[in-house]
Amino acid sequence: MTALVQLQKVSRVYDGGSETVALDAVDLIVQRGEFTAIMGPSGSGKSTLLNLIAGLDRPTSGTVTVAGVDVGASSQSALAKFRRVSVGFVFQFFNLLGTMTVAENVAVPAELAGKPRTVVRERVASVLEDLGIADLAHKYPDSLSGGQKQRVSLGRALVNEPALLLADEPTGALDSRSGQQVMDLVAALNEHGQTVLFVTHDHQLATAYGRRIVTLRDGRIADDTMLDSRRAVPLGELIGWNHEGR
Ligand SMILES: Nc1ncnc2c1ncn2[C@@H]1O[C@H](COP(=O)(O)OP(=O)(O)OP(=O)(O)O)[C@@H](O)[C@H]1O
Ligand SMILES: [Mg+2]
Repeated sequence: MTALVQLQKVSRVYDGGSETVALDAVDLIVQRGEFTAIMGPSGSGKSTLLNLIAGLDRPTSGTVTVAGVDVGASSQSALAKFRRVSVGFVFQFFNLLGTMTVAENVAVPAELAGKPRTVVRERVASVLEDLGIADLAHKYPDSLSGGQKQRVSLGRALVNEPALLLADEPTGALDSRSGQQVMDLVAALNEHGQTVLFVTHDHQLATAYGRRIVTLRDGRIADDTMLDSRRAVPLGELIGWNHEGR
């Protein structure tokens, strides 16, 4: 089976007056089913790496292949489709649309993917149920806590059942308890087969949840460790988690 994500000699150089080498000839392979934390100091290239894998950015050199798509070589329209269908992205500050309800926010990627209205409605209901936020469907983001907002953005990221879930500091704006709840949900998703790649500054969080820790330093992979201890996820004990529905 081919790898889900493959980076070969990937560099990203920002040219803003002086050149910044954000990533320097990075090789990385991520297999399906992995739960990988990307760590490293501020400015080490973590977000740059995630953005390249998400197709939000293109490498200066090297190749980024995700789910069989050569992200750097794809046309704008192919890349837009890739972003809608193959990856889900969770941001530190949620990026929810304040004028839309929770259900409408979660529906956006499914609508953009051209799914029929009834399918969209079913997917949104199922995702909200899985994430324990069905009761928030008609609320607006402004009225939610940080942890609730992040669950909504998880829902939006997952509505099209992407092969890969990417999260850049998903707990960075949350208190530790809400952060843990969000990561428990992500861990449960991984237990159900979802491949997850997340960025965090928090070493404790990375080792508590990640099964592999990739550490960047100055745009290079300084360390890549597989953790063998599997964390027991309290499946079914999570609020609203629906075993039968999957
Ligand atoms: N759009 C940009 N234009 C110019 N330089 C950039 C841009 N984005 C990032 N950089 C630079 O590239 C390097 C890597 O940045 P990146 O955002 O990937 O780091 P990071 O590891 O995510 O940091 P943080 O932990 O602070 O989020 C940094 O030196 C940063 O200043
Ligand atoms: Mg960053």
